[in-house]
Amino acid sequence: MIYLDNAATSWPKPENVYRAMDEFLREHAGNPGRGAHSLALAAERVIEETRSLVARLINAPERDRIILTFNCTDALNLGLKGLLKPGDHVITSRIGHNSLVRPLNKLEGKGVRTTRLPPCSDTGFLSAEDIEQAIDEKTKLVAVTHASNVTGVVQPIEEYGAVVRRHGRVFMVDAAQTAGIFPIDVQTSEVDLLAFSGHKGLLGSPGTGVLYLSHRVELDSLREGGTGSHSELDEQPVALPYRYESGTPNTVGIAGLGAGLKYIFEQGIERIRIHEQSLLDQLLQGLSQIPGIILYQPQDMRRRAPIVSFNLPGWEPAEVGAILDQAFDIKVRTGLHCAAAAHKTLGTYPHGSIRISLGYFNTAQDVESVLQALGKIASSKP
Ligand code: ALA
Repeated sequence: MIYLDNAATSWPKPENVYRAMDEFLREHAGNPGRGAHSLALAAERVIEETRSLVARLINAPERDRIILTFNCTDALNLGLKGLLKPGDHVITSRIGHNSLVRPLNKLEGKGVRTTRLPPCSDTGFLSAEDIEQAIDEKTKLVAVTHASNVTGVVQPIEEYGAVVRRHGRVFMVDAAQTAGIFPIDVQTSEVDLLAFSGHKGLLGSPGTGVLYLSHRVELDSLREGGTGSHSELDEQPVALPYRYESGTPNTVGIAGLGAGLKYIFEQGIERIRIHEQSLLDQLLQGLSQIPGIILYQPQDMRRRAPIVSFNLPGWEPAEVGAILDQAFDIKVRTGLHCAAAAHKTLGTYPHGSIRISLGYFNTAQDVESVLQALGKIASSKP
């Protein structure tokens, strides 16, 4: 089996992730912060260690500003709905995932105004100048997707961050496709809200996500309830990170996320990126040899997540995906990838595209195999 759907979720996981989750459930699975017995304390240590590793990954100034959520969508919902009020204005792009688009659509129904900027057709980048020009007196937030989950284009968030800071607005980045693959420094990039999942580039378990919160923003909580600490209060405590983490967390998933982060630090992000970039180069080189193939790709190939979308003439994307799966045992994702807005911008709506997304455990042989399979499929239909 060849797995090429790492943008949906990375697989396989490093061995230490499997081991950490197994060990956690057997030996440390108390409820963190709830009780002073040794199992509760052991669970708390694992959670706080993971929080520290996340803070280190993104250069967050304090560990308590790392809110552990259930996925990236959960983190984006908390950031958007916790921040925005009727009358506020938001600037975003037309290439976002539904996890950004749908909460914003819902907020629009409640009186939030949005400006959705198109990317430049050559580079796939938003223009920092366009962002600056779109800022008005009601603008509270600029929310961008770091890398498109359809084309892999990585946006220059440092440029946008500088503009947003100059105007004193809040800067949010959806890093679902870049965390663990590209270095992200929330301080130098001036990011106020950084959302990502734990099960993609971070190589951890599904059911985990992160929202980093800078000292410049304060959010309303979306869920109130037990926080383990501050039980004497009738109201939700204001202390971070508990204010936003009501209810028992996904402790076993967070243990897996911590192990994924340790593995990434051992390997080094640069090494991970270089490996994936080399596979990406091989894939693009091979795909470009397939007659008639339509590749949806940026011009600037240096800043690209290991994600490639394309179509084969005469084939529906879903047909190609099914043949790859059934005849070749190769797993890719086809269709709209939960990002209809991006496909409308690319002109690939409603059928979408075939998407290959590479991971650290893929090999040159995996790429060779999918290229051969696609070559056979492409030549079997006029
Ligand atoms: N957002 C994930 C993807 O692109 C699920 O497949």
